[in-house]
Amino acid sequence: MSTELNRMVDEATRAFTNATTMKELKLAKTTHVAENSPVALANRSIAELPKEDRKSAGQAIGAARSQISAAYAQREAELEVVELEARLAGEKVDVTLPASLRPQGALHPVTRLFYDLTDVFVAMGWEVMEGPEAEAEWLNFDALNFTPDHPSRFMSDTLFVDPPENHLVMRTHTSPVQMRTLLTRDLPVYIVVPGKTYRADEYDATHLPVFHQLEGLAVDKGLSMADLKGTLDHLARAMFGSETRTRLRPHYFPFTEPSAEIDIDCFICHGESVGNPDQPCRTCKSEGWIEWGGCGVVNPRVLAAAGIDTNVYSGFAFGMGVDRTVMFRHGASDLRDFAEGDVRFSRQLSGGSR
Ligand code: PHE
Repeated sequence: MSTELNRMVDEATRAFTNATTMKELKLAKTTHVAENSPVALANRSIAELPKEDRKSAGQAIGAARSQISAAYAQREAELEVVELEARLAGEKVDVTLPASLRPQGALHPVTRLFYDLTDVFVAMGWEVMEGPEAEAEWLNFDALNFTPDHPSRFMSDTLFVDPPENHLVMRTHTSPVQMRTLLTRDLPVYIVVPGKTYRADEYDATHLPVFHQLEGLAVDKGLSMADLKGTLDHLARAMFGSETRTRLRPHYFPFTEPSAEIDIDCFICHGESVGNPDQPCRTCKSEGWIEWGGCGVVNPRVLAAAGIDTNVYSGFAFGMGVDRTVMFRHGASDLRDFAEGDVRFSRQLSGGSR
């Protein structure tokens, strides 16, 4: 009996030692420990022994079984270490390998400038609003006090969306968002509106049929032209440096009264090219000033159309050409570069990703 038990222990131990993976070890366990293994069979045969032999046989078999379990546990522990080491070796990262570089994109300079411009206003507590690019003719023109025969409505300037009887236009400016805001929001309002605008222009170095504007609108108690000037001065200095000066030139817009165009002084020649043919300035075309946008005090007729009491409230508004601003901020000379989507242009003007 005991030689047989010793042989079982030896065989089991050898099988466990020979197992080189957990899987093989589990298989060996089935053969040498499980229900139909030699020790299990021996254990079951105790019942057939004469009563007086059972106790010693039981003890001997029990001892053999614990030897087998110990051998199993030992090999299991060894294999766990081996397998862990193999897994760690497999997952090792060689940090000295060269990285696979992918070309980086860049924000479009117009997008980049929109962020910079709106940041200036958000810092003063203004809100950023947006509106649809396909706009009701009424909001684009009538609500802003354009007469029915105003020249800019005509097909030659405005892109109408078919069919014309729907009176839908591609917005020619961001100003319709003024009216959208006044109709939906409680006063006071302080908003800026970055967005795309459309006009039936030729596509050339100085014109794009799709361009960008930044609109601003403030309506509150007691606002005047002085608040407009102060706001635009602040914006100009934030964009072009603390020395920048602005100038308002009288102009006409149906939705502001009085109206003005705003110029900034040329940050390249600072006016020194004016009347000085030896030192011409390409940026301001030797005029000393650069046209930046339109602005004015909101026409009371616009406020009244939105149901606002013009004895209590007044406001100011402005609209800048953003593509132009990028152009003279960076010295870009051909607007077509803005539309062609060459990432090298974006990278150069907006300094990589944000
Ligand atoms: N919407 C005008 C334009 O496109 C600019 C403007 C905006 C003028 C707001 C006055 C007030 O030319």
